[in-house]
Amino acid sequence: MKKQLKFNNGKFRVLCFGDLHESNEFNTENDQAKFNDMQLLMKTAVERLKPDLAVFMGDMYCSNDMPDEMIAKIVKPITDAGIPFAAVLGNHEHDRDEGPVVNALLTNPHSLCFNDDPEITGNLNYNLTIQASDSDKTVANLWFIDSNNVCPSANVSIYDWVHKDQIEWYERKAAELKEQNGGEPVPAVLFQHIPVAEESQALREAKPWEFYQSVKGHGFRSNKRFVGNEKVVAGYVGEDPCVPQYHEGQFESWKKTGDVVAAFFGHDHLNDFTCIVDGIMMGQCKTAGFRCYTDGCQSSVRVVDIFEDNPRNVRTKVFKFKDFGLKCTCLGPIKRTINDKQSIALTIASRVAMGAAAVGTVAVAATKLKGKNK
Ligand SMILES: [Fe+2]
Ligand SMILES: [Fe+2]
Repeated sequence: MKKQLKFNNGKFRVLCFGDLHESNEFNTENDQAKFNDMQLLMKTAVERLKPDLAVFMGDMYCSNDMPDEMIAKIVKPITDAGIPFAAVLGNHEHDRDEGPVVNALLTNPHSLCFNDDPEITGNLNYNLTIQASDSDKTVANLWFIDSNNVCPSANVSIYDWVHKDQIEWYERKAAELKEQNGGEPVPAVLFQHIPVAEESQALREAKPWEFYQSVKGHGFRSNKRFVGNEKVVAGYVGEDPCVPQYHEGQFESWKKTGDVVAAFFGHDHLNDFTCIVDGIMMGQCKTAGFRCYTDGCQSSVRVVDIFEDNPRNVRTKVFKFKDFGLKCTCLGPIKRTINDKQSIALTIASRVAMGAAAVGTVAVAATKLKGKNK
């Protein structure tokens, strides 16, 4: 039987792990070092932050080989501590045959994942309620939503979005919880891989003198550069959020339903900012691993605290690999030490240098050609 979540001394703590991109491929020594560093971060975060639940934010396991064994291996620091875990699916889990990975997530004895309605789009759409410390009263709720994969038509959107039938399912379930709660919405925190389109409202176009700390636009706005605006309340904008360019009103549905206090996303490996848009907190979970793109030693975990006496007062904080004082073995000496802003500046500088080198090469070639033509 699945474990019923309960507040513990007035608090419920979730520990989020973004985009691990783990796989069963250990072709080099460095692959093993990347896995070991990820496990060190996970073990240290679990020991020091003592969560009640771990949540994997999608793109957790990007392989079809031995998913049962590998997922059990990935989550070992969590399950060894007796902590249950939940997960949402990322686009890279959809890229592969969904069966084995979903099955491994459904059957792991420490997993709380399930699929509430097989008739709706996606998989692992579900919710977990949190009961009061000393009774079976539902005090808060956690949503886990599948944001699907890429859009079949790149002219409409690069990434897919949460479909209308999923939104209707969420509204039906939220209405049931509200009725059981004496007509009051049950305060909820939502977890999903791809962010909602409205998260882009936390960025504005960069002024020319801000370029060194700006990020390149994603998708249809890739010709512009952006920085965070006043809606960003904490953390770091490391890339333009890779949101879908089309949606079916998921964020508006949260506002109308009135239960979602905060939503947390994965997908953007470099973002760990928290913003507030129309009164709803939204936070990005940077990658907690080293297998896919990341900024130096910035891989991190995010804590989300929900309080029993006021579950609408959600607090959140990011803890980076470096913050724990851990020693990274998989990265070289420069990558180990650079910070986020240096990483963006270095990327821009390297692109400029590459551009200059390309111009120089063309100029030299043109001169040689001119000489030959004489
Ligand atoms: Fe990812
Ligand atoms: Fe992703």
